[in-house]
Amino acid sequence: MIRLRVRSICGLLAACLFAQSAQAAAPLQVLHWWTSPSERKAANALAARAADEGIEWRDAAIPGGAGLGAGKVLKSRVLAGDAPEVAQMIGVSIAEWADLGLLLEIDNVAGAANWNGALFPTIQTLITHRKHVVAAPVGIHRVNTLFYNRALFAQLRIAPPQSWADFEAAAQKLKAAGVMPLAFSSEAWQVATLFENLVLAESGPEFYRQLFVKRDPAAAADQRTADALQRLRTIKGWSGGAVDERSWPDVARQFARREAAMMIMGDWAKPELRDQGMVLDEDFACAAAPGTGKYHLYSVDSFTMFAGDYRYMPAQEKMARLLVSMPVQLEYNQLKGSVPVRRDADPARMDSCARASWTAFAQGAAVQAPSLVHRMATDEASRDAIIAEIHRYFLDDRTTPAEAQRRLGVLFRLFNLRSQGAFGAQDTDRRR
Ligand code: BGC
Repeated sequence: MIRLRVRSICGLLAACLFAQSAQAAAPLQVLHWWTSPSERKAANALAARAADEGIEWRDAAIPGGAGLGAGKVLKSRVLAGDAPEVAQMIGVSIAEWADLGLLLEIDNVAGAANWNGALFPTIQTLITHRKHVVAAPVGIHRVNTLFYNRALFAQLRIAPPQSWADFEAAAQKLKAAGVMPLAFSSEAWQVATLFENLVLAESGPEFYRQLFVKRDPAAAADQRTADALQRLRTIKGWSGGAVDERSWPDVARQFARREAAMMIMGDWAKPELRDQGMVLDEDFACAAAPGTGKYHLYSVDSFTMFAGDYRYMPAQEKMARLLVSMPVQLEYNQLKGSVPVRRDADPARMDSCARASWTAFAQGAAVQAPSLVHRMATDEASRDAIIAEIHRYFLDDRTTPAEAQRRLGVLFRLFNLRSQGAFGAQDTDRRR
């Protein structure tokens, strides 16, 4: 009897506690595109830290590398009046959404935590729209990362290639030994990611910006663009012309199974390899993609909060503060493969791959190149059109580099006319 009473009191207490915490927990729907096993772990860590603060993270994950699906779902949800409270949104797309007046301004959070003093200047610019902070940045990915299999390289006495000429020599050796040199996919965004790496290697950040940020027709016609296109075709040639369309985690698995000796991919692949049982600096190592050793081709992940329903505001602000706080930055980036967006992070606490990335990025805008594919360089419509054009060239061997350059030039002229308001379109480009 007594035992029963004690039990029921405990039951009541538990129910009360539960009710209390449920009351405190403001559920926030979080739309993002982190669905691979390692991405999931990083997202779960953020959700757990949010829960510690009484915020319930209601996961709305949309599969699709580089956020292709997530971008579309977000648009349709907003149009249907069903915007999530929090959304992964990166690069120029932040300005596009902010222009529509849909994003919560979080200046008070940024001010109180001194983001201005703590963040790298490039990050601060990315999250600021018309002098207001509208996004919380979480990590910087290095898109020009070369992963190589250490055992295969040691066995065949190959040094990590620093230039594309080195790469060709390494590729010949590997092929002769019956090993596929590079794991890659014909998926459009992955092809374009390889291409932006090739452009950077052929030129450097200044020309890269002229091509992908300014979308200058003269840059499209330049010999350096022709060389990058030609190199893309050579790389395709190594696979006998038949490249499968694999998702990026599949490409990482191909590399982990030793079916290929190298992989050029954003450093989000690093924890995916860890998940496959590969140990960094033992089984594999990172280097900058050939010809890009001095540069940092970046994709910065961030979250925005949708304004409109002010009941969510306290939790949204709490979440923004949490995401940029040092403990969360350290835990999350270690799991995600990216590096902290903060300049006061300690590189000594990072692994070799992250340390090289963070140190390169810290050198500033002169060595940084904004990834086209990952929305850092230009608006969504231009980006999609450029990716489609590069993909078309990649798939059809009859298209010459000169023809692809001509088509890119036509696209650029059209984009520029649109930016000048020739079609009465809203322009976010001119302000950047
Ligand atoms: C994001 C990464 C993500 C990758 C693959 C990039 O756009 O910045 O966080 O892991 O896409 O989907």
